[in-house]
Amino acid sequence: MSHSAHPAGPSHGYPLPTVEPVIAPPDLTVLNPRIWSANVGRQGSEVAVAGLPASQLAAEHGTPLFVLDTEDLRQRARTYATAFTGGDVYYAGKAFLCTTVARLLAEEGLGIDVCTSGELAVALRAGVDPQRLALHGNNKSVAELRLAVESGVGRIVLDSHTEIDRLAQLAAEAGVRQRVLIRVTVGVEAHTHAFIATAHEDQKFGFSLAAGQAAAAAARVVGHPQLELVGLHSHIGSQIFDTGGFEVAAHRVVGLLAKIRDEHGLELPEIDLGGGQGIAYVDGDDPQPAAEVAARLRKIVERECEMAGLAVPRLSVEPGRAIIGPSMLTLYEVGTVKPVVLDGGTVRNYVSVDGGMSDNIRTALYAADYTVVLANRISDAPPQLSRVVGKHCESGDIVVRDCWLPADLAPGDLLAVAATGAYCFAMSSNYNRIPRPPVVAVTGSRSEVIVRRETLEQLMANDVGWSAADQLAASPVGGVDG
Ligand code: LLP
Repeated sequence: MSHSAHPAGPSHGYPLPTVEPVIAPPDLTVLNPRIWSANVGRQGSEVAVAGLPASQLAAEHGTPLFVLDTEDLRQRARTYATAFTGGDVYYAGKAFLCTTVARLLAEEGLGIDVCTSGELAVALRAGVDPQRLALHGNNKSVAELRLAVESGVGRIVLDSHTEIDRLAQLAAEAGVRQRVLIRVTVGVEAHTHAFIATAHEDQKFGFSLAAGQAAAAAARVVGHPQLELVGLHSHIGSQIFDTGGFEVAAHRVVGLLAKIRDEHGLELPEIDLGGGQGIAYVDGDDPQPAAEVAARLRKIVERECEMAGLAVPRLSVEPGRAIIGPSMLTLYEVGTVKPVVLDGGTVRNYVSVDGGMSDNIRTALYAADYTVVLANRISDAPPQLSRVVGKHCESGDIVVRDCWLPADLAPGDLLAVAATGAYCFAMSSNYNRIPRPPVVAVTGSRSEVIVRRETLEQLMANDVGWSAADQLAASPVGGVDG
């Protein structure tokens, strides 16, 4: 059989998985409160955060710029803390972490879930009580485990048999009894992007419940007197709207609690059902309020415990996206607008901004959707099908895939992209040697830089080059004067 294969390989040239919004929304100036943070609104013709107009923020701090609505973040943290009263809320620092945010969330009563020594270092530097930290990771290094034990981290979530023995030894060396949880793979297919689903069997995290690994892990931990088993943990994935997956997870985790009681005479005081609660990125996304999620989970845990004759354990969670995601937006400046005629004659404006996949990789990586608006003025031009793209050297460098923006959009205009608090700055890179944008916190009409913009000098700081002698030896003109 003969194939006329594309020279770049069989996967080359597939179109983007796109659903074009064929009907323009009636009003491009609307700011859906489910998507934007609480203190984002219109100030005259501009989009403003807590009273500060986009043009002022851009003039003061430059673009691209992450803007944090501080009061909105506090409110979300409080809502979660209240909803899960009686248990702990560990903010998942992987979504976004800097000392200011760590401190602010600790003030609101949240603990922090860290998963590397880097995240741990930020939390410790912020002054967060180590007892309020939980350490995660499927491959924590010995150095990371040692740092956690020696810093007095409250909980370490165990992910492999190797790690159980490793940690027991480190705890013995440090002369402490370390509190631990076991991460259980509950076998749930979460309804989300495959890359961010984490509780099906064929992936790297946790101990399989179905295969008996989780029970074996419990036995192993119980055999180590340096480890105190305080609970079970499950995280089924991220950006999930449907609570069904969490409910199945809760049911199965309680089942294991009962088994551990039966086998070891041990009633564990805590279960942690992880993070994963979805947020609204675009119209139509409809996340459940934290209080509702908490009530449903509590109900199912109580019911299952009653049936198993267990005391109801503390119910903890680890939201990242749901805490920080909606509280930030990104401001970009438009550099060029290029109309491209599609098959069928439709025109799509390619709107190039001064950032891109280095400050938001989520669109390229997960086909994520975002909401974008013109931020520095109101236009009465008709809506134009548009795609917001970055300045990187690849065509997948897309920030907002399908959107409607005013047809008169022009260089110098500012765009605001909503809900960029989670996994945007955190996953940022220096691709094409672009310095990372700053993060500015806005509170009561005042803006303050909490993470500075990277400089070209900082980009160069680790580029130490060859030693002078090596340079001379390697250079084709090495050692020749003049
Ligand atoms: N707990 C554990 C053990 C986790 O692995 C995660 C996320 C969380 C909590 C917080 O999940 P959240 O509430 O934020 O959904 N980069 C992806 C998301 C990866 C999530 C990784 N783990 C994205 O941009 O969608």
